[in-house]
Amino acid sequence: MNSEEVLDAHRRAGVIARKAREYGVSLVKPGVTYLSLAEEVEKLIIDSGARHAFPVNIAVDDIAAHYTPVPNNKLTFQSGQIVKLDVGTHIDGCIADTAASVEVGTNRWASLIEASRAALDAARDVLPPGIELRKVGGAVERTIEARGFRPISNLCGHSVGAYDLHAGHSIPNVADDNYDTLSVGEVVAVEPFATNGAGHVSGKKNSNIYRLLRKPGDGDIESYPILADIYSEFKQLPFSERWCAARNPKSSAQLAKLVRRGIVAFYPMLMEARGGMVSQAEHTVIITENGNEVIT
Ligand code: CO
Repeated sequence: MNSEEVLDAHRRAGVIARKAREYGVSLVKPGVTYLSLAEEVEKLIIDSGARHAFPVNIAVDDIAAHYTPVPNNKLTFQSGQIVKLDVGTHIDGCIADTAASVEVGTNRWASLIEASRAALDAARDVLPPGIELRKVGGAVERTIEARGFRPISNLCGHSVGAYDLHAGHSIPNVADDNYDTLSVGEVVAVEPFATNGAGHVSGKKNSNIYRLLRKPGDGDIESYPILADIYSEFKQLPFSERWCAARNPKSSAQLAKLVRRGIVAFYPMLMEARGGMVSQAEHTVIITENGNEVIT
């Protein structure tokens, strides 16, 4: 693919990611299971002609990022929660990544949700080519702090490359020491997070989302036949325990072994350090001559 075809594939992935995000948001209601939402949104992505860049992430309240339900998960949305829905699609490896926050049944967190949304707009306003990325982080930080909240300083936006969700640049959410700049034609996901908590996340618990740490060799595949299937389906993009279970009923035990062997890693659930509520907004954009083009 030449560079114009690559950008076109990102744009087509973006149209489907947007549709998936909007559909997912419309499904968030008290009593609805996380599992049914994840499955319906993931089905829409496939039926629309894209593939998954990662499992549908459903991060509730003080979970900032990284969680997807397992096959028998019974959790349901409850009134008063903030749900971050993060969806990723790709066409021929060209990724679109987008997220929105929605409150379940109440209206107590509207200003927190607005803070991350406004920060995304502020980041886009200062994102033409050549701008030091710390200035983008500064715009996010000021916008969120002006509303009485904190940005999450250790979560960043990111470049997206071919079959690569975190390629190259990080897009900070605070004015850090990132003096990198972007050039025309780069594709980046911008994702501010706002909280009423400490402003950083940590976590060790398994999110049920995994990735291959390296391309499996012939010896690995001989010992663990499931690896051939994982690599051909997902390459090194994140995948869920749910998807593996649907393809191979013995996959859970095999995944645990592969984690112990250091071939597969799980993503930890990222929790707000002081238990604060967290909102997120995210678009994927293409850097243009004069600014950026939202594709999601
Ligand atoms: Co995302």
